[in-house]
Amino acid sequence: MRKKRDIYTKRAKQEGHRSRAYYKLLQIDKKFKIFNPKQIVIDLCGAPGGFSQVARDCTKGNASIILVDFARIKPIPGINKIIKGDITQQSTVLEIRESVEEYRSTYNSIIVLADCSPNVSGNWSTDQAIQIWLSDVALGIANFFLAVKFVSKAFQGESFRNFFDKIKLFYADVKINKPPTSRKTSAEIYVIAQKRRDLGLKLYDTNSLLADE
Ligand SMILES: C[S@@+](CC[C@H](N)C(=O)[O-])C[C@H]1O[C@@H](n2cnc3c(N)ncnc32)[C@H](O)[C@@H]1O
Repeated sequence: MRKKRDIYTKRAKQEGHRSRAYYKLLQIDKKFKIFNPKQIVIDLCGAPGGFSQVARDCTKGNASIILVDFARIKPIPGINKIIKGDITQQSTVLEIRESVEEYRSTYNSIIVLADCSPNVSGNWSTDQAIQIWLSDVALGIANFFLAVKFVSKAFQGESFRNFFDKIKLFYADVKINKPPTSRKTSAEIYVIAQKRRDLGLKLYDTNSLLADE
């Protein structure tokens, strides 16, 4: 497994991609066709930027990409905006909104990507719970922007089922996928949610940001 991981890490370096995660999202897009050129892409927890590079490459540079992470990110060609911020803070969401407003007139839909991982503590149940909490925060952000698609990492474990069922409240087509690049020994999987349900939610409704709603 380690050998396989190293192959992708090496390949990412050789091909100028920011991370091996690049290949995970590429494999997801190949299967689910999540991107279109007229999208605003909000890439949450996106450092060092592999997912954003996939969004750029799959849309031939035609999408508008907003990359958010609390880690510092070196500029990436073709990525419109990099926001250094904590996704759990409302100030970060408001900063994302400013960029969305800037691009909204020329784009027809929004996709939210979330590849959130906490700093692992070594205590699996704590780490799993925090990871799902971060992904749930990301779902709140997808609802705030009425994103038509939501693609999120999730650690399988105790709180996964509730998170999965919650996503299904907001999206009619929800699939689970483990891309071949993801190590078999890792508990991570990806949820691909498409076809937003029309629930009468309002754009920029801050209630949608409440993760435990
Ligand atoms: C697996 S990495 C993302 C890899 C990325 N998708 C890529 O393609 O290169 C997980 C990221 O989650 C970020 N993160 C964790 N908690 C966060 C938070 N509360 N706000 C913003 N970023 C967070 C970490 O800083 C880390 O960069």
